[in-house]
Amino acid sequence: MATWRDFLPIYRLEKRCFRSDAWPWIDVLAALIFPETVRYVAEVDEEIVGFIVGDRRRQKDLGWVATLAVAPAFRRRGIARCLLQECEAGLGTSRMRLSLRESNRGAYDLYLKAGYAEVDRWQRYYRNREDAIVMEKNRPTP
Ligand SMILES: CC(C)(COP(=O)(O)OP(=O)(O)OC[C@H]1O[C@@H](n2cnc3c(N)ncnc32)[C@H](O)[C@@H]1OP(=O)(O)O)[C@@H](O)C(=O)NCCC(=O)NCCS
Repeated sequence: MATWRDFLPIYRLEKRCFRSDAWPWIDVLAALIFPETVRYVAEVDEEIVGFIVGDRRRQKDLGWVATLAVAPAFRRRGIARCLLQECEAGLGTSRMRLSLRESNRGAYDLYLKAGYAEVDRWQRYYRNREDAIVMEKNRPTP
């Protein structure tokens, strides 16, 4: 599980991968501290090349993928798929949700393959007024 000690490389990776959509530093730090979040990193040669943050709405038995990013040089190796599985297992909720830009076809395919389906749209959600697609997955829990 990532901690506040991983803040700097995660913050840099978030900025690099999301540019104008990147979280402000305070949100990244909060995600690494809050007890209701799970956060995992992928490391290659001790360098953080990917990370995921998930949070939990306990009363609704619902988990959200809050952010997921992999460094460009390490993409298409299954790192995001692996981080997503860890996040789902770490949250342990029977439902998972996430949102993404409708133009983000790569991420859409990743989630589709992982068993997510489109359930909602948030009109003009992003800064440039692009819609968000909301995807959901039901997970069998013991
Ligand atoms: C989206 C992102 C996290 C994917 O990371 P990744 O480690 O390359 O993904 P994986 O290698 O685990 O991909 C698993 C599957 O997802 C799909 N996929 C992932 N990236 C894709 C792309 N760019 N185009 C098409 N399909 C893609 C493929 O089906 C892939 O399987 P395959 O390589 O066997 O064909 C990464 O591109 C990224 O960080 N993008 C910028 C940030 C972002 O958009 N995050 C998600 C926001 S919701």
